[in-house]
Amino acid sequence: AYVSLNGEVIPTSEAKISVFDRGFNFGDGVYEGLLIVNGVILFEDAHWNRLQRSLKALDMSSDIAQLKLRIRTYLQHEEVAKNSAFLYVQISRGVAMRGHQYNKSISPTVFMYAINREVTDINETFLDTISTPDNRWHRCDIKMTSLLGNVMAKTKAINTNCYESIMVRNGLITEGSHCNAFFVKNGRVFTHPADHHILNGITRLKVVELCNELGIPFTEQAVAYSELKTMDEAFLTGTSTQIARIHKIDDHEFDINFKNSITMRVQYAYAKLKR
Ligand code: PDD
Repeated sequence: AYVSLNGEVIPTSEAKISVFDRGFNFGDGVYEGLLIVNGVILFEDAHWNRLQRSLKALDMSSDIAQLKLRIRTYLQHEEVAKNSAFLYVQISRGVAMRGHQYNKSISPTVFMYAINREVTDINETFLDTISTPDNRWHRCDIKMTSLLGNVMAKTKAINTNCYESIMVRNGLITEGSHCNAFFVKNGRVFTHPADHHILNGITRLKVVELCNELGIPFTEQAVAYSELKTMDEAFLTGTSTQIARIHKIDDHEFDINFKNSITMRVQYAYAKLKR
């Protein structure tokens, strides 16, 4: 297995970064998680647009053209990327003596790896989830490597045999620790607006597009935790999760036998985008 570190493709065991890397010291960096399906990066441009936005938000410079070249070189070396894989790309601010303030003149540490990942047309699982207070800061729209709020939330879910935590801020459902959350009520799809309190997922964006194309009524409006029991369906979206039905949030069970569900229509339409 190989990684690409600062433009060099090297065996994973030989990759080294400084203990003074600000990514390590401060979580001062951004990343993207992408899916490679049959050797092709899915929705590549959307990911680069978001990466550029994240870099800008953290006052980091970007050279997406150079990054794309490095990815091409890396993918030529890495066997797993020939089929289906998860590709992780991280840019940390770089190496500097410790101090909270950053200096724009240091060069970033650019790192990527791909791991084998089976991608099915449809994620057929029904997920159990729990609710968790959303303890994160107010810039969840930046895809950055400081992820402790998400890490704590996901671990809490796993420790209670659940797949994901559904985070709640001021009574409203924001998103999962690594997924966006959607709800369906009387044929209308609801999800939290893409403001500073959620990450605007690429899968989320595709679901919004698909709802428009399929004529499914859609509102970017957060669902209150107290309204959960009035919802007919719920699903999660994300690069790893794709689109998956939610079976349970805490004690509330959704009817997963619901025939002709909106979720299923969106799942099938989404599967076509992957071919
Ligand atoms: N998930 N919300 C958060 C907090 C995330 O970390 C992610 C990404 C999403 C979904 O975004 P996208 O559809 O672009 O993956 C929402 C990681 C990378 C994943 O699940 O693979």
